[in-house]
Amino acid sequence: MDKIIIEGGRRLKGEVRISGAKNAALPILVSSLLADGVNTYSNVPDLKDIQSIKLLLTHLGAKIVSADSIVRIDAGGLCNYEAPYDLVRKMRASILVLGPLVARLKKAKVSLPGGCAIGERPINLHLRGLEQLGAKIELKHGYVEVSADGLKGDDIFFDVPTVTGTENIMMAAVLAEGTTVLRNAAREPEIVALADALKKMGAEIHGAGTSVITISGVNELHPISNEIIPDRIEAGTFMVAAALTQGDLTLTNCEPDHLKAFIHKLTLTGTKVHHVDKQCIRVIGPDEIKSVDVKTLPYPGFPTDMQAQFTVLMSVAKGLSIISESIFENRFIHVSELKRMGADITISGNSAMIKGVSKLSGAPVMATDLRASACLILAGLVAQGTTTINRVYHLDRGYEAIEKKFTQVGALIKRVNG
Ligand code: EPZ
Repeated sequence: MDKIIIEGGRRLKGEVRISGAKNAALPILVSSLLADGVNTYSNVPDLKDIQSIKLLLTHLGAKIVSADSIVRIDAGGLCNYEAPYDLVRKMRASILVLGPLVARLKKAKVSLPGGCAIGERPINLHLRGLEQLGAKIELKHGYVEVSADGLKGDDIFFDVPTVTGTENIMMAAVLAEGTTVLRNAAREPEIVALADALKKMGAEIHGAGTSVITISGVNELHPISNEIIPDRIEAGTFMVAAALTQGDLTLTNCEPDHLKAFIHKLTLTGTKVHHVDKQCIRVIGPDEIKSVDVKTLPYPGFPTDMQAQFTVLMSVAKGLSIISESIFENRFIHVSELKRMGADITISGNSAMIKGVSKLSGAPVMATDLRASACLILAGLVAQGTTTINRVYHLDRGYEAIEKKFTQVGALIKRVNG
């Protein structure tokens, strides 16, 4: 398994191009199942999760051609309604094929995704939404089997604003008979991006980005060309890198508007964020990082996917801070590794009490999930000495060529195979 080795203590300076958003590309590539013909997607990030979803779509009968960040998908040959365990276990977002398969083939059999390091990750709200649209749900031998003579619109209230739950039911509803209203829907930019792609395909959707989304079913959709929006979490990760290293980074092809809550908190640490133009920001790290309290919330609140990265920043800030994780039940796994690097953090329930230290020290550490891996890279960049990060396959799921991007702005970072 690959490792990443970092010599800490370098100030990062230069320009980084942000890649397309993993969490927008995944549902949008899956939405190709909703129409016959060739959909062309650009700015698709080259990630393990994208490879996984392309494998699954091919398994279902889609024809896929990829070149650089362009992906063409023709779902005209959609013939298989089963998403097998060996494909789904690699990436839980595979559950997103449920909605489109039921909408197109009137049936689906998808391996239950199971939990992951950060929490149980249930899909009860996905299934309840499909049931309300008239689907029959059976759980058998680790699979969820869904069938429906035809889907009919309904008024669906999500107990919590689930991101992929909102995406799944939105994709099921666009070809349903009548009107579907999603209440307490997720409001992330990735939801708006999916709705924009579906509307381009001919769907009738109003309210994406708010907590009430109204979908009027249509008879059929047509293929489109679509550009994937920038990855706000990758952008946030590099912004923290600038803040940590007293650096000066200019991020291009990014969307600062998608990071308002995070940027607000980052500026309170003393970090300067200059809006160069609509898709370009310059981030300058402070000489002394101020402690700031954070609570993760559904969008537009502070994103849970930035919690681990912000925890590193607070671990070398001046003073005390409290970071509360309100979305997932086990998203402080990275803390034990940070403490091995000298961080002073105490976990109590869903909060981390962080007492800033003057320095972290490099150490061999273990990545446990995607964003925890990113946090360990950030810690290595600012730590004194050498940090070796094991199990970097977690990282490759969601960050495109991250060590190359960090090298370009002055980091001493390399990947070691084996
Ligand atoms: C999406 O996961 C993202 N993944 C996650 O990013 C992100 O952390 C998460 O949203 C929250 O923003 C993708 O978009 C592919 P949820 P998702 O359903 O949809 C509970 C990353 O690092 N819930 O919004 O799986 C659930 O337990 C990943 O890129 C139910 O109870 O998250 C959680 O507490 C990590 N029942 C809360 O809702 C359900 O049926 C939010 O989960 C569904 C969810």
